[in-house]
Amino acid sequence: MKVLLTGAGGQLGRCLQDRRPADWRLLAADHKTLDITDVQAVSRRVKQFQPQLIINAAAYTNVDQAESDRERAYAVNEHGARYLAQAARHAGARLIHISTDYVFDGEGLRPYVETDPVNPLNVYGRSKLAGEQAVLQECAEQPNVADHAQSGAAPRQPRPDAPSFIVLRTAWLYSEYGRNFVKAIVAGALQGQELNVVNDQIGAPTYAGNLAQAIIQIGRMPDLPGGVYHYSGSVALTRYEFARKVLDALGEAQRLGDSSEAFRFTPIVSGQHSVAASRPKYSVLDNGKIQKLGVKEGDGVDVCLRRMVAALLRG
Ligand SMILES: NC(=O)c1ccc[n+]([C@@H]2O[C@H](COP(=O)([O-])OP(=O)(O)OC[C@H]3O[C@@H](n4cnc5c(N)ncnc54)[C@H](OP(=O)(O)O)[C@@H]3O)[C@@H](O)[C@H]2O)c1
Repeated sequence: MKVLLTGAGGQLGRCLQDRRPADWRLLAADHKTLDITDVQAVSRRVKQFQPQLIINAAAYTNVDQAESDRERAYAVNEHGARYLAQAARHAGARLIHISTDYVFDGEGLRPYVETDPVNPLNVYGRSKLAGEQAVLQECAEQPNVADHAQSGAAPRQPRPDAPSFIVLRTAWLYSEYGRNFVKAIVAGALQGQELNVVNDQIGAPTYAGNLAQAIIQIGRMPDLPGGVYHYSGSVALTRYEFARKVLDALGEAQRLGDSSEAFRFTPIVSGQHSVAASRPKYSVLDNGKIQKLGVKEGDGVDVCLRRMVAALLRG
């Protein structure tokens, strides 16, 4: 199968390349090779390569910076997503577009399902939501366009032979690659810093390698109906609880014993930590829809953290 991967240099992009199945002919395009905000470049690349599947792992992901860089966030997260969807439609390719738990406002009291109303709190979340809508609207024939709670798009007639466009929302990604929370906690702890971590934001940390495996599995499911799906880690944690798990893994790898004695870390509330963007207090995703279709959960958070921390320490 011919697969075009955008954002190949990011966390998810790197994890997908590491796990590339033998039967994939993969064109892994990083930001330099293919800028998804360049409509002509996107169209040209898709026409040349003629992929059967496009995976959009490219995004503007700096949540705080997006507040003052709105135009760029929308250029990548909305317009780039639309250009890829247009190109996919013209080429008759399937599209797996990655989105975020930050489309929700965090006022929910149970894990969010795909049809729950969206209400992003920050520019990043709004730009990602606009990207979801662009993807689903572009594939007007999508059978599941109507289940996108606030897309505003009128449901249209499904075309049975249309390739499916999947919007896959995930949350709190971590991996050996790029910038992420786990790497920041490990780096801070190794430098002996006192770590103040918010204890009033709850989410489901997701190992990007598990997400990559799930995407590969979805890539092998050509009959999966188009629409929105959730895939995230299965354990809900506050940021502080997650940091504690990271430090437990670090303490274990360094044989330091109890992490609360080995490292200095303190729970704080969001207001004590000055950041540009508001974040949802609770953004746990319900994975039931995709799990019922057979997509696997992957290893649990403790196993993934132990493996990842060991890899970080090895350098
Ligand atoms: N990270 C999280 O915690 C999280 C949580 C929920 C959902 N998600 C979603 O999951 C997906 C993957 O996230 P990630 O953590 O792997 O992100 P990431 O590590 O920041 O990777 C994103 C990649 O996109 C590239 N990119 C940015 N602008 C581009 C453009 N115009 N054209 C082509 N590539 C461009 C970036 O390249 P440069 O660095 O060179 O600009 C980067 O390599 C994204 O859709 C993100 O919104 C992430």
